[in-house]
Amino acid sequence: MLGFHDQAKFATPAMFAALGDDTHDRADAGIVVRGELPSGLKGVLYRNGPGRFRRGDEIKRTVLDGDGVMQRLEFADGVAHYARRFVKTPKLLAEEHAGRFLKPSWTTTVPGLLANVGQHIQGTAGVTTYDVNGILLALDEGGASPGCEIDRDTLETLRPASLGLPDNDASPKPHAKRIAESGDWLFASTRYGAKGMQIDVVRHRRDGTRVATPTVLAPRVGYLHDFAATNRHAIFTLQAVELHSLRFLAGLASFSECIEWKPELGNIIVLINLATGEHRTFEAPPAWAWHMANAYEQGDAVIMDFVGYDDPGHFIGPDAQLAAIMHGKEGVNGAPGTIRRLVLSANGTLAETVLADGNFEFPQIDLRASGAAHERIYVTSCPTSGFFHTGIAALEVRTGRLDSYDFGASVNTGEPVFAADPNGGPDQGWLITQTLDVQRVTSGFAVLEAQNVAAGPVATVEVGQTMPLSLHGQWVAATPPLTQRH
Ligand SMILES: [Fe+2]
Repeated sequence: MLGFHDQAKFATPAMFAALGDDTHDRADAGIVVRGELPSGLKGVLYRNGPGRFRRGDEIKRTVLDGDGVMQRLEFADGVAHYARRFVKTPKLLAEEHAGRFLKPSWTTTVPGLLANVGQHIQGTAGVTTYDVNGILLALDEGGASPGCEIDRDTLETLRPASLGLPDNDASPKPHAKRIAESGDWLFASTRYGAKGMQIDVVRHRRDGTRVATPTVLAPRVGYLHDFAATNRHAIFTLQAVELHSLRFLAGLASFSECIEWKPELGNIIVLINLATGEHRTFEAPPAWAWHMANAYEQGDAVIMDFVGYDDPGHFIGPDAQLAAIMHGKEGVNGAPGTIRRLVLSANGTLAETVLADGNFEFPQIDLRASGAAHERIYVTSCPTSGFFHTGIAALEVRTGRLDSYDFGASVNTGEPVFAADPNGGPDQGWLITQTLDVQRVTSGFAVLEAQNVAAGPVATVEVGQTMPLSLHGQWVAATPPLTQRH
């Protein structure tokens, strides 16, 4: 790392200004590559994230809440191509026509006394993207539909996504898991109803068949964003929160504003047998968790690594950092995200350990190990507090060794997506992170060797304009060939 710096004070107003209000669709043109793109790096990085926060005088309450922008960065033979497109959801098209926000979204209500009653949240398809057996998805959460199918070459929006979850895909989770052992994908939803919160998981097998796990009634109504899975089990983390659903349904506040952090409740971990729907619950220390790194089975135990927060002040509360940035302010940071491990034992006990102290988010692994034991976890990192990170780190879980690089106070880094070296072993490959440089007023991407993060980027790609903070991505290797256009 380059040493201490006060990233938040330096960058928050500039980051707000650089969030890309004028973000627009863009064809392949005008990028600058510095350094040398690895010859083995062949394929496409797809990314998705929120990209329109303001219409007229209205501004979204948090930076997580915007219409989805798909990005496509292709590497082939040392050359890079870049394009992006908004996901043309019904919401986006209607609001483009109206010139204003029409419906409430998950962190933001719309003006008008009755406009938010019932909270008919429309999807933005702006959180994750997955290539599921050749079908590219832009996914969202919590709405009436999971998102959209996207053309892999042109990024055009093709049709609504169909995941096969109950109630026509109501209340889907944005995160999905591909299990390396079987090649199956798992999608999930958390539905709210009179009974409480129900959890459903559907497995998409490689042959195209879909198998639903029996519905599980959760022991707590709450909010969760991600889950973990092995080939046999799915693991859901019910965070220490209370959801004030009546206040939400009455339209008095957005969904996110109705989440109250209550550490005294502790977390509840729900371990679901994917074949039978049988489930067990475990009491766990309170932790806010956006993202799970991976889970695997070791004997009778299930092990899950994730990034956890003792205090989610960066998200919950009127002056939370993710809301304050919309007004160019630093806001409240809460506690840092640390890398933690839960061991769920067959005798019903749970043990938690901290694998790495620091300030981390967006955990990734070499997905060839997904659902099996992983050796390393890749994360964004920051030497100071706050959710807007400036570095990349690789944690070797066996030794606790951190291999990290910091880009400096003026650069925001996004989820490091692992791109495997097709000729390499486990964890041999590259990390690709999206960067937002508020000093040089440009967004781009940096490629780092996964085994030598501290050396810094081996290549960078600048797109010449600033982009909002993209959330998640997936690397799709070029073998078998991605497209017919080369
Ligand atoms: Fe996420």
